[in-house]
Amino acid sequence: MEKSHCLDCFLLVLCLFASLVSSQTSPDSPTMEKLKASLKIPSSLNWSDPDPCKWPHVGCKNQRVTRIQIRLQNVGGTLAPDVKYLSELQIFEVMNNQIGGPIPSFAGLRQLQVANFHTNNFSSFPADFFTGLSSLSQIYLDYNPFDPWEIPESIKEATTLTTFSANKVNIQGRFPGLFDYVTFPSLQNLHLAMNNLTGELPAWLAGSSISSLWVNGQSLNGTIQVIQNMSSLQEVWFHGNRFSGPLPDFSMLYGLQQLSLRDNQFTGVVPMSLINLKTLHIVNLTNNELQGPTPKFADGVNVDMIPGLNRFCLDDPGVACDERVNILLSIMEAVGYPEIFADNWKGNDPCNNWLGIACAQGNIVSILFVKKGLTGTISSNFSKLTSLTTLVLSGNNLTGTIPEELTTLPNLTRLDVSNNNLYGEIPSFSSKVALITFGNPGLGKDKPPRPEGMSPGGSPGGGGLSGNGVKKSNRFFI
Ligand SMILES: *[C@@H]1O[C@H](CO)[C@@H](O)[C@H](O)[C@H]1NC(C)=O
Ligand SMILES: *[C@@H]1O[C@H](CO)[C@@H](O)[C@H](O)[C@H]1NC(C)=O
Ligand SMILES: *[C@@H]1O[C@H](CO)[C@@H](O)[C@H](O)[C@H]1NC(C)=O
Ligand SMILES: *[C@@H]1O[C@H](CO)[C@@H](O)[C@H](O)[C@H]1NC(C)=O
Ligand SMILES: *[C@@H]1O[C@H](CO)[C@@H](O)[C@H](O)[C@H]1NC(C)=O
Ligand SMILES: *[C@@H]1O[C@H](CO)[C@@H](O)[C@H](O)[C@H]1NC(C)=O
Ligand SMILES: *[C@@H]1O[C@H](CO)[C@@H](O)[C@H](O)[C@H]1NC(C)=O
Ligand SMILES: *[C@@H]1O[C@H](CO)[C@@H](O)[C@H](O)[C@H]1NC(C)=O
Ligand SMILES: *[C@@H]1O[C@H](CO)[C@@H](O)[C@H](O)[C@H]1NC(C)=O
Repeated sequence: MEKSHCLDCFLLVLCLFASLVSSQTSPDSPTMEKLKASLKIPSSLNWSDPDPCKWPHVGCKNQRVTRIQIRLQNVGGTLAPDVKYLSELQIFEVMNNQIGGPIPSFAGLRQLQVANFHTNNFSSFPADFFTGLSSLSQIYLDYNPFDPWEIPESIKEATTLTTFSANKVNIQGRFPGLFDYVTFPSLQNLHLAMNNLTGELPAWLAGSSISSLWVNGQSLNGTIQVIQNMSSLQEVWFHGNRFSGPLPDFSMLYGLQQLSLRDNQFTGVVPMSLINLKTLHIVNLTNNELQGPTPKFADGVNVDMIPGLNRFCLDDPGVACDERVNILLSIMEAVGYPEIFADNWKGNDPCNNWLGIACAQGNIVSILFVKKGLTGTISSNFSKLTSLTTLVLSGNNLTGTIPEELTTLPNLTRLDVSNNNLYGEIPSFSSKVALITFGNPGLGKDKPPRPEGMSPGGSPGGGGLSGNGVKKSNRFFI
């Protein structure tokens, strides 16, 4: 029958056409062959078919390669620079192999979402890698023996990044100033641990939405106050650096689960805002110079806080310090808990040979903090040390005013604040107090002296002398 014959013909043509199409190899075939050759793909991976779209661990769409996923396949060799011609590539994963040589540029791969190079033997990372990578969401470079490098400026083109992970890859220099929130609104994971970064945490971190920040195991220093506004933080790994100063206020870190601060030089009292944090799961504080009472965290918090490796007054968690210790620590809070005092002040008895402290019958009678590099203010809490006869704070960099409260110290005979940066009215002390105030250009004036040109509207030379006996104390604190 003619009709069925025709149908046969049609089916035959269709069959022929289909087999023609299927035998047609991908336009990415030459590039993939180069890649296969440079990578020394083991035969076990069976990249043998003429069509790379049939290779195991390779994915295609419309005959174009979109995925290469060869993790843990014993792959060696090097990565051919031709990868950047795989213009439809979305996912590239070669982690856990032994691939060496330089990572080639991926510039222009606009579809690329994931690039994972971790745990290989790559020798370097190119400056133009990120050029045009406008879809990149995650990149992992960790554990490669790169030549010393810095994160290149081209990263700023990868504005859709959520994860930048580069632990132990020999990154040098200052903490990168590149990942600000405006450029990287989606960044969640910034992992830069075990590199050779130096200097302080940058201010741009404050406004970021980062939830996991790993910078442990290098030489970062300065304080970590910048994290107190990073309310998206869940994991903070800062251990094994040279961070110092007091811990920040944690009350805005609503989601913090892991806080690893061990092996640094933190000082000061562990704040209640941390101890009371409901979300906290792991906290590592061992080997710092933390002061005050040993913190008592809620049951269920995993605490790494080996006794004797901080400067807590007592080893028992939650037990209050001696009142004299509390007063001295509140005084130190006003000068940022300097390390020389944190290091020296051991135990719970300030009369036991503490730096700058002299006692009589267990009462603190003399405080000599001469040229100790103190910056900050004079705490009004000195007035709680009622046995004080001598208070010498000369040769530091103290600012603010002389607290009125000091006039209440009944036995004070000597107050020396010479050579600081104090300002404002001098409170009136009893005539038995020898008051030494020279070397404070702002004392007697009602505004702090400022370097010229730095104070908008501030008149050089201060706001004029304050009249004797005129009460205007609060003005000085504004
Ligand atoms: C290797 O791939 C070819 C072509 O895709 C296939 O015919 C063959 O069965 C595969 N061999 C093994 C051992 O998987
Ligand atoms: C890694 O690369 C170096 C050269 O850069 C080479 O000497 C070494 O053998 C390689 N290691 C492995 C495990 O392939
Ligand atoms: C870089 O850091 C590694 C540890 O991550 C360390 O072994 C190495 O000595 C450091 N290199 C330099 C030059 O500081
Ligand atoms: C931090 O280290 C740098 C050198 O890397 C040094 O110049 C700077 O003074 C240090 N800052 C602090 C606060 O210790
Ligand atoms: C951090 O928060 C405090 C208090 O809300 C605010 O005064 C300060 O300006 C903020 N700092 C930054 C860098 O956002
Ligand atoms: C932090 O403490 C937890 C819980 O004790 C522990 O499992 C982890 O290994 C500690 N981290 C470091 C870096 O020591
Ligand atoms: C004085 O000490 C108290 C109790 O420790 C503290 O709450 C307060 O902030 C301190 N005042 C100053 C000015 O340091
Ligand atoms: C002040 O000194 C007198 C005489 O030395 C002494 O008796 C008194 O206890 C002292 N006051 C305080 C509060 O220590
Ligand atoms: C005091 O601090 C100012 C600015 O903070 C600084 O320029 C100056 O060198 C410091 N003086 C001393 C003696 O440390």
